[in-house]
Amino acid sequence: MKKLTSILLGIALVATLLTGCGSSGGASNSDAPKKVGVSMPTKDLQRWNQDGDNMEKELKAAGFEVELQYANNDPQTQLSQIETMISNGCSVLVIAAVEGNSLGEALDMAKAANVPVIAYDRLIMNSDAVSYYATFDNYKVGVVQGTYVKDTLNLDSAAGPFNIEFTAGDPGDNNAGYFFNGAYEVLKPYIESGKLVVVSGQSTFEEVATPQWKSETAQNRAENILSSFYADGTNVDVWLCSNDSTALGVETALATNYNGTYPIITGQDCDKENTKNMIAGKQSMSVFKDTRTLASQVVKMVGQILKGETVDVNDTSTYDNGVKVVPSFLCEPVFADANNYKTILIDSGYYTEDDLK
Ligand code: BGC
Repeated sequence: MKKLTSILLGIALVATLLTGCGSSGGASNSDAPKKVGVSMPTKDLQRWNQDGDNMEKELKAAGFEVELQYANNDPQTQLSQIETMISNGCSVLVIAAVEGNSLGEALDMAKAANVPVIAYDRLIMNSDAVSYYATFDNYKVGVVQGTYVKDTLNLDSAAGPFNIEFTAGDPGDNNAGYFFNGAYEVLKPYIESGKLVVVSGQSTFEEVATPQWKSETAQNRAENILSSFYADGTNVDVWLCSNDSTALGVETALATNYNGTYPIITGQDCDKENTKNMIAGKQSMSVFKDTRTLASQVVKMVGQILKGETVDVNDTSTYDNGVKVVPSFLCEPVFADANNYKTILIDSGYYTEDDLK
């Protein structure tokens, strides 16, 4: 009897080793915990540190092991980090791509090893190895920014004209076009009617994009625009910035290169520096994307994938990555400004009062 039991145990062990996994994810079952690889783009921006921390915390709480890496905004570094995660036996990969198009080889490897991939926040392009996408509704982020400008200037009834400039994001990030288009579509009728005037004349995504979302790049471009088009005392009424890192660059440029009436400035992420600037009147709003919500959703999806359950998605038509429409879960963005930040950011526990001093 004892001998039979040990033979059966032996067979079970070999079967587990051969399949590389037990029945399903997490430590809730008796099998060894599954490992999840989390690949974040950079530590340079506050939000990705929060995303990484939240993911790690929530995955561990759900019973998973975590391999978390930051790629220093370098596609090649990210590619090799992901390959290492696969070799180290990760069962699922969660990837916020530095560049949507540069992960081909790592994704091929994931596919060959049967490792599902969740694109986190940014869609991974041109690969059928992407199983799911979880993000905030990127187009809506832009719509929220554009609508804020429209409502604040009261564009339907005010006489205008108002001067506007645009600063968008990284052309390598699939989100950036959605943000810009969402905002532009709201404002386009007013640009066409002449109520909004783009004084620099730069209004296509290509003209206003900011490679790698760098504050310094946004600052340099803003300084050039201010000295070329606003040095004669012309006011800029709105600077539509797609996110907080680019807004910071524009705010720095305005501080030393502009004497006119301070413009409405939009942003995204509610980074601490930008929230402080909102309180100080140097930035008008920022779209709040609660990284805790996104992390919880992704952890839920990881569990569902590993348990073979139906994965929670709420959009199966928008995000075509060039090869397939990736089933997506879109979280809702909201805006924060100097009036509501206490409720949205402090009462919710996202920041403490001290964080914003
Ligand atoms: C994210 C934004 C972020 C930007 C720069 C985008 O993909 O959705 O929240 O501000 O990247 O890191």
